[in-house]
Amino acid sequence: MDNLKDKRIILGVSGGIAVYKAVELLRLLTKAGADVHVIMTSAAQEFVTPLTFQTLSSNPVHTELFNLIAEREIGHITLADRADLFIIAPATANVIGKIACGIADDMLTTTVMATKAPLLIAPAMNVNMYTNPVYRENEDRLRRFGHLFVDPVCGSLACGWEGQGKLAAPETIFEAALAVLTPKDLAGRTVMVTAGPTREEIDPVRYISNHSSGKMGYALARAASRRGAHVILVSGPTCLPAPLGAEMVCVESACEMQAAVMSHVSRCDIVIKAAAVADYRPVERNSTKIKKQSETTTIELCKTPDILAELGAMQMRPFLVGFAAETDNLAEHAAKKLKVKNLDMLVANDVSQADAGFNVDNNRALLLFRDGRSTECSLMSKDELAEKILDNIVIEMPATGHLA
Ligand code: PMT
Repeated sequence: MDNLKDKRIILGVSGGIAVYKAVELLRLLTKAGADVHVIMTSAAQEFVTPLTFQTLSSNPVHTELFNLIAEREIGHITLADRADLFIIAPATANVIGKIACGIADDMLTTTVMATKAPLLIAPAMNVNMYTNPVYRENEDRLRRFGHLFVDPVCGSLACGWEGQGKLAAPETIFEAALAVLTPKDLAGRTVMVTAGPTREEIDPVRYISNHSSGKMGYALARAASRRGAHVILVSGPTCLPAPLGAEMVCVESACEMQAAVMSHVSRCDIVIKAAAVADYRPVERNSTKIKKQSETTTIELCKTPDILAELGAMQMRPFLVGFAAETDNLAEHAAKKLKVKNLDMLVANDVSQADAGFNVDNNRALLLFRDGRSTECSLMSKDELAEKILDNIVIEMPATGHLA
């Protein structure tokens, strides 16, 4: 997660009600260690003052093209030359139109014209402006030049209209920025991640499940996607937003997860099984709600398919990473799972402690490898652990012959 640390980012802010969201984006970028330099158009300053951006960025905010102090060293060129990434959020139809036509008549558009840094544009505007053929042509033109877009989302717009035009969430723009500055060591690879719990239905209103939130698997999917992989995320029921760029396959039960995994596995170079799959399911699902009758009741259960073991038994299989959730003898149980299920790597987490594992933001793990080596990962965020897991996969893959 250090990919933004000390990176110099220009945040261009153009005028629109969504300017306040750029403040939150700035906060996320600086928190990640980026050195952010804000340029505001005069319209943007009508919504939020430069002082807000200056305070949060700890850098002077650029508002004028002809500033006597900054122009001593030709401010816009210096700024443009030193940038690692240029973000415009919110980007109005006017600013996008100007950039698409090569107009450079203020500090923002002039600096865009002069930079060689990647340009990430997050549009925000009225839905009719967004669908206007003139705007569409301008956006297409910029995409053809290789500039990147974070599409606006649908919702009720400040102007009273409903539709696509709302600035994407600051977290989404941040994620896209992180992706631009992340080395693409998984480019060309297809990675399948399974995440979340499964639900095994007893009747139309009840099911057997577990406490998995999906956070660990989704963090892996986001990280793999940032690193250039095509990600297939097979997810049990969760409340999490789909990771940017991931191919989502939503399932409920262990049997559905098995069918989804097996139908996509032939496309994959790597499979990471972070899902907490139920080991047992009811032998029969009652078609109507089971009535409360006797004091005790029994539900007959049968084993679910062990998807990981099935993958491990394949003759030609991708690089296979399993998870193990253990409450005792972590290393011993995990090593056994790695061997029995024929895995390349296993991520073992001790789920007996409240600060890690199920349904929290952090995790600690023991990474085990085929040849008996192991590495401890102390308590860290699931995003950080996801990066460590992928770092190890990238190192381990050639040794097992799965990387071309
Ligand atoms: O989702 P979070 O709230 O973020 O929590 C993360 C997590 C604790 C769920 C995750 O880190 C984790 O440990 N996932 C694996 C949980 C689990 O099911 O462990 P297990 O030891 O029971 O299973 C071992 C492996 O076999 C797992 O990779 C599992 O996906 C797989 N399995 C299990 C049963 C089954 N029928 N099919 C499987 O493929």
